[in-house]
Amino acid sequence: MTLKVFIQTYGCQMNEADSEEMFLHLSARGAVRTDNLDEADAVLINTCTVRDHAEHRALSFLGRLCKWKRQNPQRIIIFAGCAAERLGKSVQKRYPHLNITAGAKGIEHFSDTLDKSALFPKAGQTAQASSGLSAYVTIMRGCNFNCTYCIVPSVRGPVKCLPAADILAEAKRKAQSGAKEITLLGQTVNAYQEGTVSFADLLNRVSEIPGVERVRFTSPHPIYFTPDFLKGVKDNPKIARHVHLPVQSGSTRVLQDMKRGYTREIFLEKVHALQTCGFEISTDIIVGFPTETEQDFQDTLTLVDQARFMAAYCFKYSPRQGTPAAQMQLLPQNILEERLDMLLNKVRGLAEAAYQRQVGTTQQVLMETPAKGRSSSNFWVQMPIAYEVGSVVSCKIDKAEETLLFARNEHD
Ligand code: SAH
Ligand code: SF4
Ligand code: F3S
Repeated sequence: MTLKVFIQTYGCQMNEADSEEMFLHLSARGAVRTDNLDEADAVLINTCTVRDHAEHRALSFLGRLCKWKRQNPQRIIIFAGCAAERLGKSVQKRYPHLNITAGAKGIEHFSDTLDKSALFPKAGQTAQASSGLSAYVTIMRGCNFNCTYCIVPSVRGPVKCLPAADILAEAKRKAQSGAKEITLLGQTVNAYQEGTVSFADLLNRVSEIPGVERVRFTSPHPIYFTPDFLKGVKDNPKIARHVHLPVQSGSTRVLQDMKRGYTREIFLEKVHALQTCGFEISTDIIVGFPTETEQDFQDTLTLVDQARFMAAYCFKYSPRQGTPAAQMQLLPQNILEERLDMLLNKVRGLAEAAYQRQVGTTQQVLMETPAKGRSSSNFWVQMPIAYEVGSVVSCKIDKAEETLLFARNEHD
């Protein structure tokens, strides 16, 4: 009998890539995926703990599975990822219906973890899943920074860069199974260095793989965007002109307290250099870090005006146990909420303004449906006629409506 597994992933793209990897180990043991919880024999929950809310969502899903398991006690529950790493054995005590806990640091040993549980048949040939148009490839695990608010280094451990040869082989496999767009993943992805292979080298090599039309990456850290990096990528049109570059705060003082390793001015310089090479920038911002004053918050608002982001994801500061900032006095919740509201008001128009800036430009659009695709800078484009999915079409942008661009063919 085939085992049907339901997968619920929380958190960042790295977790999505890890879920795929864990599924490959399950499929080597005869499992197939299902989107229907009622017919599933096993559930894999891949968790996030970056903010309290993220962890809470995963735990409440786990709690709800108690009833699901009671319907059939043979069912299997696997609790994996960053919250599993943080909570360790305590989660197994609190939720006795849980079968396997597999923390984020142990992803390389997931196959052994399954074997030790004796709940699955022995692994056969590792199945190779076919890729969609877009595929993730993890290039490094862990993080060597110690941003004072962040729990990621403690749940993912220090940086380990994967060998370039393995990364290229993996990207090639995904391209052969249909991926046109490869996204390279790591918590400080642009810090990648393996022997003489720099991050820019790696991007260029992945872009040369037959079938690969576009290479993206996430998340970079501002300090690794050097002139050498820009020199290395600026002439390669397959490297997407979009960077998700978290700033966290617009105040140099708060950035120092966060131990981010750059000032407001340095961040703006990096943004400017990237924009000069045609990159559009999106970002993450935290409001209400414990030492953030009204003036610091105003600095964040003015930074948003100056940086011309295409999008900004805004979060209320959430204290994480064991991090240095969790020792500091919290700001009152109402201040966090007021600041979040003000910031959300400020960032609301960013996407529309960025879409408007594209009008009149020529774009290379990677078709995701016969009618619609995404530009190199990650804007949605509606085409005048149908094209083959997966092809890249050069077109002129005629107009923008909210968050959609309308194109005509370049030679019309
Ligand atoms: N490695 C990436 C970020 C990974 S975490 C980087 O350094 O840029 C994803 C985002 O979650 C961060 O950019 C930050 O904005 C947010 N975040 C991390 N810890 C947080 C916390 N304690 N409270 C609120 N937001 C947090
Ligand atoms: Fe967290 Fe900072 Fe590492 Fe990003 S760079 S994962 S924010 S510690
Ligand atoms: Fe969350 Fe872990 Fe990613 S804490 S943001 S899933 S690295």
